[in-house]
Amino acid sequence: MKSFTRIVFVTGLLSIMLMGQWAIEPQIEVRIDELLAKMTFAEKVGQMTQLSGTNARYEEMVRNGEIGSLFNVIGAKETNRVQKIAVTESRLGIPLIFGLDVIHGYRTIFPIPLASSASWDTALIRKASVIAAQEAGSEGIRWSFAPMVDIARDPRWGRIAEGAGEDPFLGSAMARAQVLGFQGENLSDPLTLMACPKHYVAYGAAEGGRDYNTADLSERTLREIYFPPFEAAVRAGAGSVMSAFNEISGIPASANEFTLRGILKGEWNFNGLVVSDWNSITEVIQHGIAADKLEAAVKSLNAGVDMDMQGGCYTPALEPLVTNGTLSIDLINDAVRRILRLKFRLGLFDHPYVNENLHKEIILNPEHIQTALELARESIVLLKNEKSILPLDSKRIKRIALIGPLADDQQSLLGCWQCMGRREDVVSIRNGLKNRLGGNIVIDYAQGCEINSDNKGGFKKAQQAASQADVVIMVMGEHANMSGEGHSRSNLNLPGVQPELVSAVAESGKPVILILINGRPLTLADVEPQVAAIVESWQLGIQHGNAVADVLLGNYNPSGKLTASFPYTVGQVPIYYNHKNTGRPPAGGVESLNSKYIDCPSVPLYPFGFGLSYTTFKYANLKLSSEAIPVDGKLVVSVQVQNTGKRDGVEVVQLYLRDLVASVTRPVKELKGFQRIALKAGETKTVEFTLTKEQFSFVGIDHKMTVEPGELQVMIKDLEQSFWIKD
Ligand code: NOJ
Repeated sequence: MKSFTRIVFVTGLLSIMLMGQWAIEPQIEVRIDELLAKMTFAEKVGQMTQLSGTNARYEEMVRNGEIGSLFNVIGAKETNRVQKIAVTESRLGIPLIFGLDVIHGYRTIFPIPLASSASWDTALIRKASVIAAQEAGSEGIRWSFAPMVDIARDPRWGRIAEGAGEDPFLGSAMARAQVLGFQGENLSDPLTLMACPKHYVAYGAAEGGRDYNTADLSERTLREIYFPPFEAAVRAGAGSVMSAFNEISGIPASANEFTLRGILKGEWNFNGLVVSDWNSITEVIQHGIAADKLEAAVKSLNAGVDMDMQGGCYTPALEPLVTNGTLSIDLINDAVRRILRLKFRLGLFDHPYVNENLHKEIILNPEHIQTALELARESIVLLKNEKSILPLDSKRIKRIALIGPLADDQQSLLGCWQCMGRREDVVSIRNGLKNRLGGNIVIDYAQGCEINSDNKGGFKKAQQAASQADVVIMVMGEHANMSGEGHSRSNLNLPGVQPELVSAVAESGKPVILILINGRPLTLADVEPQVAAIVESWQLGIQHGNAVADVLLGNYNPSGKLTASFPYTVGQVPIYYNHKNTGRPPAGGVESLNSKYIDCPSVPLYPFGFGLSYTTFKYANLKLSSEAIPVDGKLVVSVQVQNTGKRDGVEVVQLYLRDLVASVTRPVKELKGFQRIALKAGETKTVEFTLTKEQFSFVGIDHKMTVEPGELQVMIKDLEQSFWIKD
């Protein structure tokens, strides 16, 4: 433990010197010193304890200084009431911090994160996070357990819905946007939320896509794929980080000294607070590295977990371990310091209460609803549009058959983590169409089947509706509770008899437009040939129906691009665009001995970055500022993009790099830049990217970031050019 004292001291000093992502404020540290000097051991571990909800027992604990944070306490009056106990009745009057899972909105529910990442619009996502913070803050919540920045390469994993998909570069951009949005300019503003990037780390690498399952992966993969969004969030100033449930190659993430103390608090110099996931300290007992709660607590404390969510492992029972030298008091003091530091930074000591009337003017205000609509529209991905059937020609259409178990649903559109979202706030697809069409077109609605059952009783009515219609809109997919925490699937087809309903309706010969509502990539290979168009609309929150209607009717030209690959079949999973090449890249026929399947393609049905528009874009003149640059040089890449269609549109220009020969194998392509540009019909714009060391470097053979001389390829759409990095 002696050596730990030194580490704490040294990292403490370093953070003052290097400033890290946050400047340590000396006057705050002095106030912390004063408080620490007054605190008993029980009060210290009390600060390190977080519990869900409130009740008489918890309130007594608050009074006794045995709780530092509560979460899932709802409403301005309620948070104020409980806060008053902490501030006026506990010995030292240390305020509580109230947390909540504000994942994609508080009451104004925005698209689920997987959907909003498909907008590639970091500015709008940041704005949505600002709104979420204002709404939550107006009711006394100051800590959101978000963003979820876990890279997910496996759509079986239900929590893919909560993050930005499969790519670390895009994931980092989304992480940054949300942290900056939640935390605002000044964390002491009561309408901000402290961010908590989670789940650190490799939670998305669960074997078989089964939630909470083991992750076994190399340090290289951690550094290349799973760390970057966390590092980006920390560099953006995230005040806290949540440790994950899973084990990482033998050591549970919530007791992992390498990832927590070594990387997060060491390499990245993180001076905020690490909170465990729900009971994840206690769960290291089930993982099998601790015999009881005390041992679990010691391991997690050594690793660097400062606050125990819901596990009750950080208790006065640890004091004898300090006395007998098993546990260093410096660990405890450091954890408490981090917690108090945040409470000071959040301004909780100066304004512990919230104005109880504020929420009335903030929650669900028209600007919030408008932003929800904008983000919902931008999140929609057009996957197929045969013969440009979309947008619908509302002048020629007289009758629409609206079919499917999700066509008139509101609850599912809120997705997982519905927070304070309410069903009645949500515009269903049926109502969205009504809103946008007025009374001009007859909408014949038939549910057809349930989301997940084998009952085909409604097929007939659906077929009848289809046969009388000019066009059929089928709204199919998953219920909100089929993705999210603990909701992994082993089969990625449309659930229940939905695929059969598509076939039955398609027999009518009428053009079918399939609207998907889902929290993950689905396998659509069987359904796809039977429909004329596919609109991926995920779970878009309160404005879902209006956004979809706007896309169907051409009021909005879709611009979303997938951030997670859609496999042909679940057997291809994990499948992601930035894979390695193998010694035998897929080629040749069935009999060739190459890396391929004999029964399906090696590529996904719809890859990362894919998404159609109602217009077309032509890329030309890919130019590099130089054929060769020095190791620390920069390269300016430009490309011309022309809107060659008849409608205005937005294009997401994506730049990928490939390092052809390096000391370690590199992916076949890696996203290194993107820009959303609006182009009027016929308009051409030149898009420029400046690439530097940051984009050229990779995790070298020694696990340190390095730039190596050699040939690299720049790829934008179908254009490609090489350049050299020279010694
Ligand atoms: C468990 C989940 O894994 C985590 O994401 C969430 O923040 C906590 N529960 C608190 O609700």
